[in-house]
Amino acid sequence: MKSLVLAPSILSADFTHLGQDLADCEAAGADWIHVDVMDGHFVPNMTLGPLVVDACRRATKLPLDVHLMIEKPENMLEAFAKAGADRLTVHVETCPHLHRTIQQIQALGVKAGVTINPATPAIMVKEVLPFVDLVLVMTVNPGFGGQSFISEMLPKIAEIRQALNSIGSQAWLEVDGGVADKTLPALIKAGANAFVAGNAIFNHSHGIRAGIKTLQDLLIIP
Ligand code: DX5
Ligand code: ZN
Repeated sequence: MKSLVLAPSILSADFTHLGQDLADCEAAGADWIHVDVMDGHFVPNMTLGPLVVDACRRATKLPLDVHLMIEKPENMLEAFAKAGADRLTVHVETCPHLHRTIQQIQALGVKAGVTINPATPAIMVKEVLPFVDLVLVMTVNPGFGGQSFISEMLPKIAEIRQALNSIGSQAWLEVDGGVADKTLPALIKAGANAFVAGNAIFNHSHGIRAGIKTLQDLLIIP
């Protein structure tokens, strides 16, 4: 298992040739594919559902890291699991019964992640850290690609890294939003080990492969 992983976010892909974009990611050595699901309620944008996750599943062998920015995610977990998600990450802001939701995801044979918005403090995930496979710290407000990285989130990442280490958890600590060559070193230093990137990969001036290589060259533990 690699110690630092890169997860291109298809939110910034060209959906007229999604299969080709996924093939380019795989050929360039991406580790996971990050799939952003938005419902127009929890976040002010709509994207895709299980149908597109199923299409991704058939287009790539890479693990599908599915980020659910939707209200009442518990109603859709089975559909996304059946569509081929390898990991389902839910927002604590949408889950009053978070522990149960985590159990529901894992009962489907899928890895369970929890994520918090920039305005949500680290303590909101503390009680579930022993149960999760991944914690995602949002470094932008969810809803859109290409937003500016909120550097004030770095202490929160470090706080969660310390909390995971203190209980001996092997859960991934993922970051999402504004990840690029300029922001990656500080994120690695703070203790993140899974990095979502949309704009920096799919809108790289020299193409997807160059975007992935630029970030991969920086994925070194200091
Ligand atoms: C934002 C999404 C992100 C998005 C990141 O709501 O969760 O995954 O694609 O995009 P960039 O890397 O462009 O900030
Ligand atoms: Zn995301």
